[in-house]
Amino acid sequence: TNIAVFASGNGSNFQAVADACGKKELDAQIVLAVCDKPGAYVEKRAEKAQIPLFSFSPKSYESKQAFEQELVEKLKEKQVDLIVLAGYMRLIGPTLLQEFEGRMMNIHPSLLPAFPGLDAIGQAFDAKVKVTGVTVHLVDAGMDTGPILAQEPVRIDEADTQEEIEKKIRNVEHQLYPAAIKQWITTTQGV
Ligand code: GRF
Repeated sequence: TNIAVFASGNGSNFQAVADACGKKELDAQIVLAVCDKPGAYVEKRAEKAQIPLFSFSPKSYESKQAFEQELVEKLKEKQVDLIVLAGYMRLIGPTLLQEFEGRMMNIHPSLLPAFPGLDAIGQAFDAKVKVTGVTVHLVDAGMDTGPILAQEPVRIDEADTQEEIEKKIRNVEHQLYPAAIKQWITTTQGV
């Protein structure tokens, strides 16, 4: 299975998926890393893992449709089966969605439908909930909507700082994302 990972930032989830492929925990390889924030740390990770990187500035295109069209071409060229969004801070438009319907997933740091959108961990912290978590879902046109593939709860203890919650969430993400990808490969590719 050929995977493309889209990221805008640190890329710790990109790393987790790359490592799972490297260790053969996943019968897959990342054939393309896509970054919409030139200079983001994920680019260093891609370079180190020797994964081809496509880095672009959305501003330098006329429209979302224009850069998504170019992305579609690159993804086809690499024969990508599955797009994995890993902290890609941008809504997916119809140009990309149509090509990859049911073949694009996202990870979000809350138990959706609670706390969608930006800063989900901060939202959970401020709401003083006792349990939050991580969701992996298929991507549709909405923001953090789409059919849920996997979820895992994370407890928030009285004494936890927001930073500590972030650490707990990140650790769960790094397990859950490869597991959800594995499940998707099994059910869709029959392996
Ligand atoms: C993760 O919390 C993910 O759930 C969210 O963005 C964050 C990305 O972190 N969508 P990283 O760049 O993978 O470290």
